[in-house]
Amino acid sequence: MQTYRMIILIAMILLTTKDAVESFDSHLRGPSFIMEPPTRLEFSNSSGGWLDCSASGSPQPSIDWLSVDGTSVGDVSGIRRVLRNGTLVLLPFAAAAYRQDIHSTVYRCVASNSVGRIISRDVQVRAVVTQAYKVEVEALGAARGCTALLKCVVPSFVKEFVRVVSWIQEPSFYIYPSLQGDGKFHQLPSGDLLIHNLEFSDQFAMYRCRTMHRLSRQYTVSGPANVRITEHRGIVAPVIVESSGTITVAQDEGAALLCVAQGCPAPEYRWYSHTGLEPSLVMSGPRTRQLGPVLAIEAVTPEDSGSYRCKASNAGGEASVELRLIVSTPLHVEVTPPMLSIHMGGSAEFRCSVSSHSGGPHLVTWYKDGRQLPSTGRGSSDTLVINNIGREDRGMYQCVVRRAEGDTAQAAAELQLGDAPPVLLYSFIEQTLQPGPAVSLKCSAAGNPTPQISWTLDGFPLPSNGRFVIGQYVTVHGDVISHVNISHVMIEDGGEYTCTAENRAGKTSHSARLNVYGMPYIRLIPKVTAVAGETLQLKCPVAGYPIEEIHWERGGRELPDDLRQKVLEDGTLVISPVEKKADSGVYTCWARNKQGHSARRSGEVTVIVPPIIEPFSFQDGLSEGMRTRTVCGVSSGDPPLVVSWLKDGQPLTPALAVNVSALDPYSSLLSISSLDSRHSGDFTCVASNPAAEVRYTAKLQVKGNENPWFLLSPPTHPSMPLIFRYCFGTRVNWTPKGKVLLHRFVYFH
Ligand SMILES: *[C@@H]1O[C@H](CO)[C@@H](O)[C@H](O)[C@H]1NC(C)=O
Ligand SMILES: *[C@@H]1O[C@H](CO)[C@@H](O)[C@H](O)[C@H]1NC(C)=O
Ligand SMILES: *[C@@H]1O[C@H](CO)[C@@H](O)[C@H](O)[C@H]1NC(C)=O
Ligand SMILES: *[C@@H]1O[C@H](CO)[C@@H](O)[C@H](O)[C@H]1NC(C)=O
Repeated sequence: MQTYRMIILIAMILLTTKDAVESFDSHLRGPSFIMEPPTRLEFSNSSGGWLDCSASGSPQPSIDWLSVDGTSVGDVSGIRRVLRNGTLVLLPFAAAAYRQDIHSTVYRCVASNSVGRIISRDVQVRAVVTQAYKVEVEALGAARGCTALLKCVVPSFVKEFVRVVSWIQEPSFYIYPSLQGDGKFHQLPSGDLLIHNLEFSDQFAMYRCRTMHRLSRQYTVSGPANVRITEHRGIVAPVIVESSGTITVAQDEGAALLCVAQGCPAPEYRWYSHTGLEPSLVMSGPRTRQLGPVLAIEAVTPEDSGSYRCKASNAGGEASVELRLIVSTPLHVEVTPPMLSIHMGGSAEFRCSVSSHSGGPHLVTWYKDGRQLPSTGRGSSDTLVINNIGREDRGMYQCVVRRAEGDTAQAAAELQLGDAPPVLLYSFIEQTLQPGPAVSLKCSAAGNPTPQISWTLDGFPLPSNGRFVIGQYVTVHGDVISHVNISHVMIEDGGEYTCTAENRAGKTSHSARLNVYGMPYIRLIPKVTAVAGETLQLKCPVAGYPIEEIHWERGGRELPDDLRQKVLEDGTLVISPVEKKADSGVYTCWARNKQGHSARRSGEVTVIVPPIIEPFSFQDGLSEGMRTRTVCGVSSGDPPLVVSWLKDGQPLTPALAVNVSALDPYSSLLSISSLDSRHSGDFTCVASNPAAEVRYTAKLQVKGNENPWFLLSPPTHPSMPLIFRYCFGTRVNWTPKGKVLLHRFVYFH
């Protein structure tokens, strides 16, 4: 249980201004991407496309989109929308509505909050107006016993989007792509169909190829074609009729290199790799399989990049072709350390590292809060050094790496200023003067967060009348400057002025007297609230100068008249510790000068007992769907009492579905009618009265429901993988969707 002393004197209200930039209790955190948009988005005009972007941080960052020239991207009626949750939607559009600056451009997502701003990688967007296209079959015949090749010819304007999904032998025999084929039919990964061991009857079958446009997901089927069996008999030397040329495959994916030769008898294939120093014959191995015209490599690594040669030979001769495999690696960037907290005047160093396999040359640029920093020219660009750190250097630093291929990746780090308690840079001095002139008292302070300055006169708020003006502002360096200006100083304005600079790291204050010549005068003593058990210091608000003596009395008796009381030389009454019964009441102070003139004034002291919360807890062994309740009772403490609840330090939200009701002015019932995992955490009861705020925290633990829930997407054809998605620990509904064999099960918590 912790006690937070709020206010000792209720009447002492902090003077606050809007200039102070930070709040005292916030745990600020710069934005970081939860979902960064992809490097590339291609979509068809009929489907439209969207880019998700979301970020976390405290306060919750807002999401914006930037176009290639750095301007903010907005809605364009019927074409583009920016949703409130940060998603950028590119709507389906008619061919005539195509706009290069919207549909074929680069976007970037920006996440910003009060700490700073970060930008995402570049997203290359490309919309394709889908056009109807035709495919046809081109058949290369062969002699009996040899191999025929059927090609599915796709017009070049759609070739990059279209792939051959299957072949159909009329009426309804489907052939799907595979590495090896079934001995008779083999749809190569490239889409071509091989028909081995041609027989006379093969020329009567009709074949069609079926293609899919990957953006519009529309299927197109060719017209029928058949295989011609050539009359030729005898030996035909191999001729390469198809090769995969240069292919690019992402790291860890499978690659299929392809070279198809026609010849009779069926050629034998040998593969050579030129990836090492010497060309070498490729042997089948754990990752490599040589399947005639196909060389399949599983889980490619950058070392597999390079050129390969395929040689096809038979008794009639040999033919060869060179192919290239390029393994593309993901670009991964990291900035270390991800967070630095540095004191003002110190220096910071961030290092940007690019994953070792990110390949070729790359360019590193640094950004601060979304703006590119000038390259310093000193040292390597992989390191960013910031010296003599000031307040304006706080924020988000990003390393953006661009590869020759044109793609970018980024990583961000946050620079915070370490907390520093306030230091007074300037403070006013004691002055003695005649009534009449204008007086200005000034204090200025530095610290992080920017401190706030408050003023008191003899421990009480400054008089509120037209002669007093208080002004506070924050300089560009984040220092705070505060003035108390008194237009025509009067006798009654004399006393001890105090300025107090405070931030979450600490507080400091300065006091000095303003002496105004004149008769003794005692200002109004506001109602004073003291906290039972603590020390009360009550200063007699005496004006007039010079003053000879100050006294306190209560009920006609001069103080001190108790061991707990003391009257200091400057006229301050100290009571320690305060007791409710003994010390509540009216106190009088009086002051006298040498000439025997005197003044007196009385004030009332109320003693308040701080609240005490009775310990409470939650039951053990609670699980989802159960009910629970607990009561926060305040066993002592004076009214007015306010009792409230926090969950994990934050106020309860309606979304949490927690019911709070007051049983009586001293007890609050917290009940939850249906527990779920979100309810696990710390519940804190906060009880406050004008004397103090106290807290008591109990842990609630809700056990999850252990049945997994999963969603199946049934495969659309046999070569497609099964996809399972499931989560853990929420309410479960099982929906049987047919029989599926589960091979592997991975649990996520
Ligand atoms: C934003 O909302 C849209 C539609 O409501 C949804 O499809 C999209 O996934 C959401 N984006 C994020 C980042 O949650
Ligand atoms: C996309 O463009 C094609 C070809 O011009 C057109 O037929 C189709 O209707 C367009 N889609 C939409 C949603 O307008
Ligand atoms: C108070 O007086 C000082 C010094 O004359 C001046 O700089 C300042 O602006 C004044 N502040 C206000 C709030 O009037
Ligand atoms: C809160 O209590 C009220 C009545 O006491 C009840 O109607 C309501 O359903 C409760 N809400 C929840 C979230 O338990």
